[in-house]
Parts: sequence; C-alpha cells; structure tokens
Amino acid sequence: MLQLCSRRVLVVALAVAVLGAANPRAAVDAYKNYTVGDDKGWYDGLAVDYQAWAEGYNFTLGDFLIFNTDKNHSVVQTRNETLYKSCDYDDSGLDDTVDWSAAAPEFSKDAVTAAVPLLKEGRTYFFSGNYDGEQCENGQRFAIAVAHGQGLPPDLRPPVADAPGPAAGPDSADRAPAFDFSHPKNVSTPSETGASDDETSTSTSDSTLNLASLGAGLIMALSVLFAVQV
Ligand SMILES: *[C@@H]1O[C@H](CO)[C@@H](O)[C@H](O)[C@H]1NC(C)=O
Ligand SMILES: *[C@@H]1O[C@H](CO)[C@@H](O)[C@H](O)[C@H]1NC(C)=O
Ligand SMILES: *[C@@H]1O[C@H](CO)[C@@H](O)[C@H](O)[C@H]1NC(C)=O
Ligand SMILES: *[C@@H]1O[C@H](CO)[C@@H](O)[C@H](O)[C@H]1NC(C)=O
Ligand SMILES: *[C@@H]1O[C@H](CO)[C@@H](O)[C@H](O)[C@H]1NC(C)=O
Repeated sequence: MLQLCSRRVLVVALAVAVLGAANPRAAVDAYKNYTVGDDKGWYDGLAVDYQAWAEGYNFTLGDFLIFNTDKNHSVVQTRNETLYKSCDYDDSGLDDTVDWSAAAPEFSKDAVTAAVPLLKEGRTYFFSGNYDGEQCENGQRFAIAVAHGQGLPPDLRPPVADAPGPAAGPDSADRAPAFDFSHPKNVSTPSETGASDDETSTSTSDSTLNLASLGAGLIMALSVLFAVQV
C-alpha cells in the first residue's frame, strides 16, 4: 500500500515535470511569424486573395507579418478604414499610417522583405500604396484583427530606457533587425534573415529549455526525496 502510494506520487511528479518542461516552450512558440501570401509573396496581379489568406489565422500582439516583395510594391499599414478603402496613400503623414517599405519605391524588381510587428490590438489594414492605389485596387490588400494574446514581448514594448542589447555597429547586418519605430522606413531587414532568425529563436528556446529542465530536475529531486521518506 505504501509502495503503491509512493509510486503514484512519483508518477504525478513526473507528469508535473514533463508539463513544466513543455509549457515554457509553448510560450516561446506562441509568437508567430506569418509570411503574407505564403510562397506567392506580396504582389499584385497574381490573383492571390490576401483577405482569404488572412482569414486563415488568428493574429495576436507580438506576431510578425513578413512581406516578401520587391521595390515595385509597398507595404502601407493603417488603422484608418476610410483611407484603406480608398486605396489612397500619398505619404501625408497621417497618424496611425505607416509605410513599412524598405526604401522609397523605386519601381524596380529588387527583392525586399519587410517584417512588420503587430504592436496594437484591434483592426488594422495593409495595402500597397504604389501607382496611385492601382495595386491595392487590384486586390493587394487585406484587413486583420489583432487580439491581445499574451501581450507584447519585452523587446517590442515601447522603449522605456535605452534599446536592449549591445549597440548595433555598422557591421551588424547579421544580427536581429533593429526597429526604429519613429522611422519605420529605416527598418533594416537583412535579406539573409533565415540564418539569424534561426540563431535567435534557437538561443531563446535553449535558455528557456535550460530553465525548464532546471525546474524539472528540481521537481524530480524533491519527488525522489519525498518518495524515499514515504
Ligand atoms: C481562431 O480562433 C477561433 C475562435 O477562437 C477558432 O475557432 C479558430 O479555430 C482559430 N483559428 C486558427 C487558425 O487558429
Ligand atoms: C482617415 O482617412 C481619411 C481619408 O484619408 C481622412 O479624411 C480622415 O481624416 C482620417 N481619419 C483619421 C482619424 O485620421
Ligand atoms: C510595377 O507594377 C506595375 C503595376 O502594378 C506594372 O505595370 C509594372 O510593369 C511593374 N514594374 C516593374 C519594374 O516590375
Ligand atoms: C531614418 O529615416 C529618416 C527619414 O525617414 C531620416 O531622417 C533618418 O536620418 C534615418 N535614420 C537612419 C539611422 O538612417
Ligand atoms: C520573426 O521575425 C522577426 C523579424 O524578422 C525576427 O526577429 C524573429 O526572430 C522571427 N521569429 C520567429 C519565431 O521566426
């Protein structure tokens, strides 16, 4: 009877340890990056239904929308539905309207990747503002609703003190992109984001996992002690 009891305690402790190890990982994975239009990217004239694409997901604060496009298409975000519906963006500097294009439109086929963090809850709209709204009218636009989820991660919260991490030197292209929210056009989006992204996400989950396994180890040790006492 006693033995059965301690075995049960062990099983429960094990389950708790496993859950404890799994949970922080889920939290890390909860922020998602969505590639707009999937492999089709962000273009007009491709007959991609971006609204239908967007409806396949539930977006939350801290997620990123990744726009793979070229300098012939822009990425304008607004929370003004009237402006969105008019497809008319003339860079008038309206509040709540941001041009995330990597550079001034040059109408070239140079590849551009814009990573747009979702920083505010509620409805928000994206469209290409080039060619007097022609691309937007051709269907290069969509609306989403951003839910709170778990809130913004620390690195996306509005800066309180100084920027996190070491000062980025001019040779920091391989690090995580630096966000300058006052001048979103300056967002540096290195073309080889794949490698650095992997690095960052691995190291993040590594440290979390280490913490988790530390916790799991502690629970295990305690439960063994407890089992021995019983
Ligand atoms: C989005 O959320 C709704 C309601 O909470 C849920 O029914 C749906 O399955 C979710 N969709 C995805 C893709 O997670
Ligand atoms: C929304 O956009 C319309 C059209 O550009 C403009 O007239 C209106 O002032 C804007 N509203 C706000 C709240 O910025
Ligand atoms: C840019 O897009 C417009 C219309 O969307 C198209 O007519 C034009 O050929 C494109 N130019 C380049 C360089 O891709
Ligand atoms: C960012 O762009 C703004 C104009 O949009 C410019 O005034 C500023 O100097 C740029 N900053 C950097 C760091 O390139
Ligand atoms: C999502 O994209 C941002 C910006 O490119 C990057 O910093 C982040 O590591 C990416 N996250 C994941 C989970 O890929």
